[in-house]
Amino acid sequence: MTPSLPSLLLLLLLALWPAPYLAARAGTGASDHGFTHIHLYMHETFAGPNATTLTAVPSPLGADATFGAIGVLDDELRDGPDARNSSLVGRYQGLFLNAGLVSPPGAQSAINLVFTAGERRGSTLAMLGPVLSFTSAIERAVVGGTGAFRMARGYCVMTRAGSPTPESLVYEVDLFLDMYHA
Ligand SMILES: *[C@@H]1O[C@H](CO)[C@@H](O)[C@H](O)[C@H]1NC(C)=O
Ligand SMILES: *[C@@H]1O[C@H](CO)[C@@H](O)[C@H](O)[C@H]1NC(C)=O
Repeated sequence: MTPSLPSLLLLLLLALWPAPYLAARAGTGASDHGFTHIHLYMHETFAGPNATTLTAVPSPLGADATFGAIGVLDDELRDGPDARNSSLVGRYQGLFLNAGLVSPPGAQSAINLVFTAGERRGSTLAMLGPVLSFTSAIERAVVGGTGAFRMARGYCVMTRAGSPTPESLVYEVDLFLDMYHA
């Protein structure tokens, strides 16, 4: 019996569909697919001998000004809010450029989330965005990634989760990623 045209089309689709899908997945070794939510904590020490952030370039307008100042940071990414019983899963590395002339802080930030442990080890996410306030939630665009996060995009919301010492801060990091094309 000759198959009808619709069933031929269906067979063709079934034959073709999995091939590019499997090829793409095999290349990355990724475990994330579809919409993915990743929940982490950023631990920052902003002063003292073990500071993870510093002002690399002060404002050219003088010691009292902030416009034009550039900060660099290499904070810890952990799977929990308490450094004593959480695991280090990566680094939160990037720069802050103070771009707010009339409404500080108004920072432009460029951050790489570099995964150094666990199943995402060796993969990275890149995010960009403003920092309008250090006391309320900070939202940034996730503009791409490498390794398991190739073609990922989405957004990141960070909220302050505590200050374990007078020189440190912990932020809760919620990443919402579209991994459909990764
Ligand atoms: C800085 O780090 C070193 C090495 O981990 C540690 O021994 C020291 O206590 C830390 N200092 C402060 C002020 O946290
Ligand atoms: C980590 O330690 C803190 C303080 O001792 C405790 O409150 C918390 O429940 C612990 N968390 C985990 C995941 O063990």
